[in-house]
Amino acid sequence: MTRSALISIRLLLIIALWAAPALAQNEHRHGGQEEQGKHRNPTDLKSYLEHLDSAERDQDQKPAQVIEALALKPGLAVADLGSGSGYFTRRFVEAVTADGKVYAVDVEPEMLEYVKASLERAHQPYSVEFILAGSDSPKLPTKSVDLLFVCNVVHHLENRSTYFANVIPALKPSGRVAIIDFYPDKRSGNLGFPKHHLVARDTLVAEMAKAGYRLFREHGFLPKQYFLEFVPEQAPH
Ligand SMILES: C[S@@+](CC[C@H](N)C(=O)[O-])C[C@H]1O[C@@H](n2cnc3c(N)ncnc32)[C@H](O)[C@@H]1O
Repeated sequence: MTRSALISIRLLLIIALWAAPALAQNEHRHGGQEEQGKHRNPTDLKSYLEHLDSAERDQDQKPAQVIEALALKPGLAVADLGSGSGYFTRRFVEAVTADGKVYAVDVEPEMLEYVKASLERAHQPYSVEFILAGSDSPKLPTKSVDLLFVCNVVHHLENRSTYFANVIPALKPSGRVAIIDFYPDKRSGNLGFPKHHLVARDTLVAEMAKAGYRLFREHGFLPKQYFLEFVPEQAPH
């Protein structure tokens, strides 16, 4: 190896060592870190929760339009899979009222505690059950929900076809699954975390078909995310 090649390699190593903490910081700030090749929550959960709940998020996330599109009625049962800060959970509580039921489901106990505290602060009657999920199961009771809502969570799930096939028994006979997630291309802009875990819309539709679902409705008003509704090919028994 020539002397100049050795100097170039040394320089590259120095740059890599200098850049690594800066990249990690960026991931951490915006909501995602890598652990053994998997997408994980950032370690600073407090600032992550603030990020998920921030008012600026409404501009692209359009929560009121999402709730309207889902056509929820009082009395329905909704599971918010990967409820995070409760950004959508609280809106579901309002839509289905205390006559309905909301399941806040997350793998992170601190997330569930945060949602509970925020509901209590609102002093609004609610019927919410908190479920500490397993990474491969939401642990929902059989025939418990009219809607399983999954926003920005599918890219956290492994073996998605198996996961969603196993979830069918938790749906009521006319139950559906609504999935919102970021486009893995430039439409989602700079998310602050690497996009290689994101799932393309067509890939997800194919995975859901494998799991036993068909695409029932698609909404196109979110600028950075697809928004798909699926129903099981065969009604859950
Ligand atoms: C990007 S946040 C989205 C939070 C919320 N859905 C929202 O849109 O504001 C992802 C959430 O999914 C949770 N999560 C990750 N893997 C999960 C799994 N296998 N089951 C349930 N929740 C999961 C994380 O703990 C985190 O709260």
